[in-house]
Amino acid sequence: MDSGFLRARLASLLAVMPLGVWTVAHLWSNLSALRGPAAWEDAVTHFSHPVAHFATMVIALLPLALHTVWGVRRLASTRPNNQRYRSFGNLKYAIQRLSAVGVLLFLGAHLFKAMIEPRLVHGHAETFADISTQMGHHPPTLAVYLLGTLGVAYHLGNGLQTFAMGWGLTTSRRALARFEIVSYATFVLVLAMSWTVIWALWRAGQ
Ligand code: HEM
Repeated sequence: MDSGFLRARLASLLAVMPLGVWTVAHLWSNLSALRGPAAWEDAVTHFSHPVAHFATMVIALLPLALHTVWGVRRLASTRPNNQRYRSFGNLKYAIQRLSAVGVLLFLGAHLFKAMIEPRLVHGHAETFADISTQMGHHPPTLAVYLLGTLGVAYHLGNGLQTFAMGWGLTTSRRALARFEIVSYATFVLVLAMSWTVIWALWRAGQ
């Protein structure tokens, strides 16, 4: 079997499972920002055991790295053709790729500012006080989180539909239409969770 085809299937599978599932779980933990600093730090930055920390890295960051390498190569090897084919589906596909660039930039900034810098430079995990103060008083941080999570919500929601097509889960028009609802619902859910977390942090930082 063609190795490019296998790589595409693997990158697609990793993007949904575990990466997509982990993304929703990560937002769920972050929703504890609604319950204050101690609850948030307990749910998001405290690991009961170093093995738990290591497992999180492997479950989230390894698939992310593999999907990103595949995604960047895919972006570089194809060009949009929306001038010639002006369908809604083709527009959604172009936005999928645009959102991939946004998500790449956002995750680079997010991983550096929220994980690497606090731990390596300041010697401790990100604190609730730091992240909420940034969100409440530094408009560029707020804008990056709002737009970055919008990109993630779109990329995951719309990606679920191309995933289902690629894996042969939607072979009829009816199945395709039904899966479109799953895709829109995922977009709304991920965006609502993300912006609720951002609002809770922003409010605490005021
Ligand atoms: C939270 C992080 C991410 C998640 C949950 C995610 C999820 C997904 C999903 C579910 C798909 C659809 C797969 C398919 O059609 O079978 C996809 C496609 C894609 N992803 Fe990601 N992704 C993430 C980050 C990234 C990053 C950082 C890049 C870097 C450029 C990227 C590039 C792409 C590209 C180019 C496609 C479209 C491939 C195509 O159909 O031509 N993704 N992603």
